[in-house]
Amino acid sequence: MTSLAIAEKQLADTGFLDVDIDPTLDLFEEIQKLKKEKNAIILAHYYQESEIQDIADYIGDSLGLSQKAASTDADMIVFAGVHFMAETAKMLSPHKKVLLPDLKAGCSLADSCPAPLFRQFKEKHPGHVVVSYINCTAELKTLTDICCTSTNAVQIIESIPKDQPIIFAPDINLGRYLVKKTGRDMVLWNGSCMVHEIFSLEKITKLKQRHPNAKFIAHPECETKVLDLADFIGSTTGLLKYTINNEATEFIVATESGILHQMEKASPHKTFIPAPPNNACACNECPHMKRNTLEKLYVCMKYEQPEIILPQWVIDEGRACIDRMLDISAKAGLVG
Ligand code: 13P
Ligand code: SF4
Repeated sequence: MTSLAIAEKQLADTGFLDVDIDPTLDLFEEIQKLKKEKNAIILAHYYQESEIQDIADYIGDSLGLSQKAASTDADMIVFAGVHFMAETAKMLSPHKKVLLPDLKAGCSLADSCPAPLFRQFKEKHPGHVVVSYINCTAELKTLTDICCTSTNAVQIIESIPKDQPIIFAPDINLGRYLVKKTGRDMVLWNGSCMVHEIFSLEKITKLKQRHPNAKFIAHPECETKVLDLADFIGSTTGLLKYTINNEATEFIVATESGILHQMEKASPHKTFIPAPPNNACACNECPHMKRNTLEKLYVCMKYEQPEIILPQWVIDEGRACIDRMLDISAKAGLVG
């Protein structure tokens, strides 16, 4: 086998290039050098481990990351996030090289809505506009009219005429929240995020009793019973801004615990308590997001692998729904 074939096989098996790294290397310094050398930008989601957040050029939620991927003049986008995010960046900047440190950094929500099944579902509801949460595959985006993120979902739904029936996919929890918030009766796909649906109502209730002055804040991917307890519901950026602007000094946070890093950095005098899941863990981590490590980030920048490659038809047919979302967000002055 040639070395290229070996590398390709390894990527297919493991999702990343498993090469030995000199343990004496200062990875922060090496990554900075590679960024300059290759005119690369590192975009990181708030759920990435803190070392990755600290070296990123931009940290944001799904909307902010898409806006940045669409506007950057870097030649290479290194996406420290999950697969659907890197695919979105590729669709928005098809002529740039888009890298993902671990190709197997997937998403349970995106996986819960396979495009062939969704196509049949859509056929059963003719005349409906399809709004898809950006947490879906590139192929699903080819079946979507408008994308949304948790920052702009309400505005996207409200931009659609009131008499126009809507299918919302794939997150049923966000869908239910939007039905309540906008008063629109939408057809919902039954998908969910493994991280946001395992918060324990019982443990959160006890935690709230022990911290009566704490604000309980939650991401709209959480189940309705959890959202019903929340003082504030918002996207990761929305939650972060709330903790900065609210005068409370204690917050119980129901989303992936990676966001606590920026909350603690922005408000070092405040206390942030991760909402506990329904298992033995004290905080809730996304196993897909956490597949990326500083080592994999370094290797992927050095060897420019794994790269996101999409068929041209997927880029052509999948991009329009993201452009519509970015357009509506810009008009509404929304940034992630
Ligand atoms: P936002 O980035 O829109 O807050 O969504 C959170 C999430 O689950 C990303 O995978
Ligand atoms: Fe997907 Fe949930 Fe992980 Fe976000 S937190 S990447 S929605 S599994």
